[in-house]
Amino acid sequence: MAQTLLKVSGLKVAYGGIQAVKGIDFEVREGELVSLIGSNGAGKTTTMKAITGTLPYGGGDIEFLGKSIKGRGAWDLVGEGLVMVPEGRGVFTRMTITENLQIGAYIRKDTAEIAKDMDRVFLTFPRLKERATQLAGTMSGGEQQMLAMGRALMARPKVLLLDEPSMGLSPIMVDKIFEVVKQVYDQGVTVLLVEQNASRALGLADRGYVMESGLITMSGDAKVMLSDPKVRAAYLGE
Ligand SMILES: Nc1ncnc2c1ncn2[C@@H]1O[C@H](COP(=O)(O)OP(=O)(O)OP(=O)(O)O)[C@@H](O)[C@H]1O
Ligand SMILES: [Mg+2]
Repeated sequence: MAQTLLKVSGLKVAYGGIQAVKGIDFEVREGELVSLIGSNGAGKTTTMKAITGTLPYGGGDIEFLGKSIKGRGAWDLVGEGLVMVPEGRGVFTRMTITENLQIGAYIRKDTAEIAKDMDRVFLTFPRLKERATQLAGTMSGGEQQMLAMGRALMARPKVLLLDEPSMGLSPIMVDKIFEVVKQVYDQGVTVLLVEQNASRALGLADRGYVMESGLITMSGDAKVMLSDPKVRAAYLGE
């Protein structure tokens, strides 16, 4: 079996007195695409922020490559390969597409390899190449999502965490984004995908977890979950 990259055990995260994540367990193995699905307020983003060091956690632990990440900061963890594309993308709208991509590689010193990765990102996202010298703020929401993913790939993630990449996009763009997620996964990148679009996310994934009110309530093989009447009733509107 592939190596476990990320292991979350008994994780608890609170905002002041409000417990948003109430003790969850899950793992992500090398080469997998794992989907974490659940409705508004379930605690998905909070979980992603704890994993990437942007929020401290109160209970349980997160291990990356067998070592606890407790107390480590986001910058530090990006260098280790835990890279998140946040909800709402977070591209730098007043910088060009190329500058945004270069920022993704800011922790790296291997100039020749960075140039190769930039070429690879442009191959994966031809739209970014066409617009390379334009300001990121002039791009559509879907294009900005691609830029945010391209920027994350420039950091050479060991685990790429995507927080609702399809949110707020037109149906055509949603198709395109899921296609691109699949392409990135096919290139060998391990992906943790958070989505409210359960059918699309499980359709792509190897395994899935359902989160409800701060707890994981279902988990398993993604294809099995897709055909589970309970999952279908709760998340696929059936
Ligand atoms: N900064 C904050 N301060 C206080 N409570 C917060 C904060 N951020 C989130 N919460 C609460 O924590 C819970 C989990 O929120 P979280 O953003 O993790 O959910 P989510 O699953 O990502 O939802 P969505 O699908 O809407 O993005 C919610 O009840 C939310 O209101
Ligand atoms: Mg969220």
